[in-house]
Amino acid sequence: MPEILSVAWQAGTPLPPASIAAIQRAAATLAGGGLVAVPTETVYGLAAVATDPDAVARIFAAKGRPASNPLIVHVADAEAARALAASWPDTAARCAACHWPGPLTIVLPAAAVVPAIVRAGGDTVALRCPEHPVTASLLRILGRPLAAPSANRSGAISPTTAAHVAASLGNAVDLILDGGSCDRGIESTVLDLTDELPRVLRPGPVSRSAVETALGCRVEGPGGTTPAGRSPGLLPKHYAPKAQLEVVAASTERVGEQLRQGVEVGWLTCGSLDGGPLADSSRSGRLHRIDLPAEADSYARSLYAALHQLDAAGVDCIIVERPPQEEAWQAIHDRLTRASHRE
Ligand code: TXA
Ligand code: MG
Repeated sequence: MPEILSVAWQAGTPLPPASIAAIQRAAATLAGGGLVAVPTETVYGLAAVATDPDAVARIFAAKGRPASNPLIVHVADAEAARALAASWPDTAARCAACHWPGPLTIVLPAAAVVPAIVRAGGDTVALRCPEHPVTASLLRILGRPLAAPSANRSGAISPTTAAHVAASLGNAVDLILDGGSCDRGIESTVLDLTDELPRVLRPGPVSRSAVETALGCRVEGPGGTTPAGRSPGLLPKHYAPKAQLEVVAASTERVGEQLRQGVEVGWLTCGSLDGGPLADSSRSGRLHRIDLPAEADSYARSLYAALHQLDAAGVDCIIVERPPQEEAWQAIHDRLTRASHRE
């Protein structure tokens, strides 16, 4: 098991000395070429110093990540981001002013200081300024940018707790900073600013309309006309649990059907559903039911933990009650669609 350092923090108050000491240890590990898992407001990241190609290579090895999939670089502020971009358009300045620190990643032409391995050989770089006080403080203490994908094996569900990281990566990570459960629970919005028309490559906590408000112009959505290879990590199957996952409108019936076939079922409801007739199966241990909240932000916060829990329980299939269709649920639908993709 990797070493896990617990880091206490409270929004709006200075970090206690013990937390700063833990963050200083993490900074030393990173400066020495090590890998540290760090809490962010979205999911845990697996960090290395972005300008150290050998350390970054260890990220790819630890995750089993294809070399063709570039990494997000995390920075302390907009000034640090500018140093990594070949140009800083007005759109970038507006995004940073309105949404940083926060769960918005912007893609820009890369400056030469960004190693090719971080860019996966491309000429752009993804930049994000995280809001989580622990990682924000780490970036300031270290004084260098951090390349950090989600801290899970490639293709698996992103971690929202330190325990998820340890279970997925084990000793491949040198140190885990445990900052508790991630508040947002799903990965950042990725926004491509390299073209005339800004485009959301990956929906996330910052909605497309929030970006349009910040930029004062139209923003393209993901999918459809997205040029192939623009965001190599956005494969159809991603963020997937081990069990086969299905999203259905009338989940009670589907769950009943599966139980009658004798399989062990994980059931994610959206708001509490009346599954009265299925209560016997719950008691027999063949049905694992988790009621997720009917509000999008709270649902996002709990979704991955629920999927991790069902995987750990060893269910054969996961039935997800289809959430509402409004914009607030878009990123959740994106992740559920990927998780349910059959090869
Ligand atoms: O919330 C998050 O974004 C988390 C935390 C740790 O910051 N990170 C994260 O990283 O989700 P990762 O590597 O799991 O997902 C990053 C996505 C991938 O789909 C990748 O292909 C895309 O961003 N990406 C990275 N660099 C890119 C670039 N230069 N151009 C286009 N897409 C890029
Ligand atoms: Mg990931």
